[in-house]
Amino acid sequence: MASPERVLRDCLGRFGTGVTVVTTRHGGTVHGATVNAFTSVSLDPPLVMVSLDRRSRMCGLLADATFGVNILGAEQRDLALCFAGLAGTRPVDVAWEPAALAPRLAGCPAYLACTPWAAYDGGDHVLYVGEVREFDVEPGEPLLFHGGRFHELVGPSRRTAWSGSLDDPTGGAWAAGAPLLSPSAH
Ligand SMILES: Cc1cc2nc3c(=O)[nH]c(=O)nc-3n(C[C@H](O)[C@H](O)[C@H](O)COP(=O)(O)O)c2cc1C
Repeated sequence: MASPERVLRDCLGRFGTGVTVVTTRHGGTVHGATVNAFTSVSLDPPLVMVSLDRRSRMCGLLADATFGVNILGAEQRDLALCFAGLAGTRPVDVAWEPAALAPRLAGCPAYLACTPWAAYDGGDHVLYVGEVREFDVEPGEPLLFHGGRFHELVGPSRRTAWSGSLDDPTGGAWAAGAPLLSPSAH
């Protein structure tokens, strides 16, 4: 029978995510770590959060540090492995783009640079919230992570799930002042 810890890990792994490389500068060198525990937090002010294992080097480096979040593309699986310390002996070509605030990986579909906003105790992790100061998007499909494996996007579902919700980017019912629980197009 699977241990409770194994089942918990399986539960959490059912939640599909993107994959990022969080970067920072420290003492003249660049450090990066692969992170899928990344989430948007707030639009006003613009805040995002990353969750770092206390045992990682990155966790110590991010205390009061400016950091970058490089959202990886479907073709950047090797970079995800490299910055997780899993690349083995295979050389990985890491290319950087000029960026003022935090190290920026070349070829990513999205990049955000953040200054420290808050840090919270997250048990064996630390939750770092950053205020987004720079951001950029490029064309490209994302790299996905689900069930302990990398995946690629299959395509959009035919119906939108969020029209009428507070997150609807078009404003929709929210902007029009319609009731929050109006029927949506599920
Ligand atoms: C797909 C994937 C996602 C990961 N997500 C996280 C994460 O959200 N938080 C974390 O602390 N480590 C995560 N890791 C593990 C770190 O990338 C790994 O521990 C890395 O070696 C830390 O580097 P450092 O100790 O040099 O900072 C992930 C690894 C992989 C492969």
